[in-house]
Amino acid sequence: MSVDLSIRYLGLDLAHPVVPSASPLTGDVDHIHALVAAGAPAVVLPSLFEEQIDHDAMAVHYSLEMGADGFGEAADGFFPQLNDYNTGPEDYLDLIRRAKREVEVPVVASLNGVSTGGWTMYSQILADQGIDALELNVYRLPSDITQSSSDVEQDYIRLVEKVKSSVELPLAVKIGPYFSSIPDMARRLRDAGADALVMFNRFYQPDIDLETLEVIPNLVLSTPVELRLVLRWLAILYGRVGCEMAATSGVHDADDAVKAILAGATVTMMASALLENGPSRLTEVRDGVGTWLAEHGYESLAQARGSLSYSTAPNPEVFERAGYMKTLTSYVPTW
Ligand SMILES: Cc1cc2nc3c(=O)[nH]c(=O)nc-3n(C[C@H](O)[C@H](O)[C@H](O)COP(=O)(O)O)c2cc1C
Repeated sequence: MSVDLSIRYLGLDLAHPVVPSASPLTGDVDHIHALVAAGAPAVVLPSLFEEQIDHDAMAVHYSLEMGADGFGEAADGFFPQLNDYNTGPEDYLDLIRRAKREVEVPVVASLNGVSTGGWTMYSQILADQGIDALELNVYRLPSDITQSSSDVEQDYIRLVEKVKSSVELPLAVKIGPYFSSIPDMARRLRDAGADALVMFNRFYQPDIDLETLEVIPNLVLSTPVELRLVLRWLAILYGRVGCEMAATSGVHDADDAVKAILAGATVTMMASALLENGPSRLTEVRDGVGTWLAEHGYESLAQARGSLSYSTAPNPEVFERAGYMKTLTSYVPTW
C-alpha cells in the first residue's frame, strides 16, 4: 500500500516532509541539483546575515544585472568548502536566481539577524528574486547583564513583526530552545506573523585549547540525541499554537523523522546527516518514513501527524513532571 506523504508547509504543497535545511549543501547550486535529484521537495538556503547587509549591499539591489551568473564551482564531497559559504548579498541573490531558474522545487531563503535595523528591508529584495517563502533565523546570545528576559523576547517579537510587514511571503521563524516559556514565545511569535516555527537552532559552542589557551570555534555536527528536546516541544505545542512546526536538530534517519511527525512536526529538516552521508540519505529517510507508516497501517502522513503529541492532554506540564520523576527514580546504578 502506498502512503500519501504529501504535506502543505508555508503554503507550499510538498511531496513529502523531508526537507534539507540551511547548510553549505544548499548554498551551492550543484549540490541543490543533487538534493533535488535525491527527492528534496524544497530547499532552505543558508542564511544571509544581518552583518553582511550594509548600505552598499542595499545599493547592489538597484544595480543588479538580472541573470548574472557568478557562482563558484562546487567543492568536492558532500561538505562544501566553507570559505565559499555565505559570501555576501550579491552572491546570495545569484544563488537564489540560479536555484529558482534551475530547479523545480520551492526555494526558501533565510535571513539571520537580531536587530530591527534597515537590513530587514532585505526580505523584500529576496522576495523580488522569486523566493517561495522566507525563514528568519534569530540567533542571539544575550550577554548584557542589565537586559531583562522580557526585553530580549520583545526584540524577537519586534523583529518578526518588522520582517513580516516588509514582505508578503509565508514566514518561518527559526528559534533556539532557551526561553523561560517556549509556549508563550511560540504564541507571541505566531501573533507577530510567524506562519511556522523551526525548532530548534543549535547554538554552536566554542571549546578551549588548553595548550594554546585559545578559544577554538569548532563546529560539531548534530547527533540524533538532540532530537529529543525537539520532540518534547513539538509534542507540547502541537495543536496549541496555531502555526506549523518544522523539526530541526538531530533528524538523521527515518526513525527520527517518524518520531518528529508523530510528535507534531509538519516537516522534518536535515543538515548534519546530509553533510555526513550525502543527498542519498534524504531518499532513504523519505522512503523509510513511507515504509514505517505503511507497516503501521497509516494511509497518509496527515493521519499520523501529532498522534503522539500532548494535544489532548489538558495539562502537559503534569505529564512532563510525572515522566521526569519516573525517569529519575527508575535509574538503576550499574556498580
Ligand atoms: C555547516 C552548517 C552551516 C549551517 N548554516 C546555517 C545557516 O546559514 N542558517 C541557518 O538557519 N542554519 C544553519 N545551519 C543549521 C542547520 O540548518 C540545522 O538547523 C542544524 O544543523 C540542526 O539540524 P541537523 O541536526 O539536521 O544538523 C547550519 C548547520 C551546519 C552544520
